Amino acid sequence: MVAAATVAEPSLVADFAAGGGALLEAAAARWPQAALLATDIDAEAVAAIRVRHPSWRAQRLDFTANGARLAVSREALGDRGDCVVLLNPPFSERGAAARWTVSLDEYDYRCGRALAFACWAADSLSPASELICLLPAGVVHSERDASAMAALARLGDLEVTPCEGDSLFTGFRLRTVCLRLRRGPLSPALDGEREEAGATPPIDGLARGQAKAWTEASSRFRGPAFVHTTDLREGRVMIRRRLPAAHPRSDDPLCGPMVLVPRVGRPDVRKVCVWVDRGEGLVISDCVIAIRRESLPAAEGLAQTMRRSWALIEPCYGGTCAPYITLKRLAAVLGSLDIEVGPAASSDDLETVVAVGG
Ligand SMILES: C[S@@+](CC[C@H](N)C(=O)[O-])C[C@H]1O[C@@H](n2cnc3c(N)ncnc32)[C@H](O)[C@@H]1O
Repeated sequence: MVAAATVAEPSLVADFAAGGGALLEAAAARWPQAALLATDIDAEAVAAIRVRHPSWRAQRLDFTANGARLAVSREALGDRGDCVVLLNPPFSERGAAARWTVSLDEYDYRCGRALAFACWAADSLSPASELICLLPAGVVHSERDASAMAALARLGDLEVTPCEGDSLFTGFRLRTVCLRLRRGPLSPALDGEREEAGATPPIDGLARGQAKAWTEASSRFRGPAFVHTTDLREGRVMIRRRLPAAHPRSDDPLCGPMVLVPRVGRPDVRKVCVWVDRGEGLVISDCVIAIRRESLPAAEGLAQTMRRSWALIEPCYGGTCAPYITLKRLAAVLGSLDIEVGPAASSDDLETVVAVGG
């Protein structure tokens, strides 16, 4: 977990469920200059840490208690943009209900306890600080935790990687994932989902991504490249993460040259990007739309036209919460620019292409 951090030299490393302090000991070995903060609900564990590591700040804290948590975490992490929080929260929880409330970006979400620990910690972080948290793999896929996961993904750059080997918990094996969140500027809520649900015939050549923004993806994997809106930068597609080869979406990448634009997000002409397919295919998140072209020059020509005509396209992003564009609106505005959105989607693509007929 410590190796997953991307903050080069944190001034503070904190663990709010520090237990025996093993995670912070690993952190101290990697960053000898960092200050260390260990809290835990277990008074004996805290006392033992104080004895073993007198230079650390150690205190008893029930992380589920809102007032005490906010006082300690905000005071410690404050405005610092160079902190790392390491968390191996308690997993076991009686009942499967989403019992815990987390407030992120001014909205309340309910989720299970392990994810709630991650959300509470993430909420205290300033931009550029980082959370590395171990979670049961079920959190990433469960209905119960889906809305809180989506809110967490909007707080910054989120990566979820399956842990190698399973953890042994009281006699049974549990699949776990490592969640890494580097706080950044907020990205908008996923809005407009319902407008495109129940879709009618696809619009040829327009594909809306189907993979969740927090899909398990990492630079270590060897499957197809995975692209989210944060990977669309200055007209270029930054390939930073791939899916595992065995991931269900790895069998169904989008192929061929295409123009990528955000479906959800503040409209930004710099995010109109050309994807040059070198034969490996691409999986896009559900916040991205792909417009496929038959050749690279055609994709580049389309991107140029869209950039030149941005004053017409930009107002097509609407919505009561975060701005978004529907495939129907995109097809209509491209049509008004005499751009056909073909070529036709192949039958293989029909599952990934979602659209509203015009
Ligand atoms: C899996 S252990 C963490 C191990 C630890 N990170 C290490 O490196 O050794 C989970 C810890 O969460 C603590 N814990 C459980 N409920 C808590 C709560 N409400 N607030 C703070 N800590 C809690 C437990 O006392 C336990 O030490």
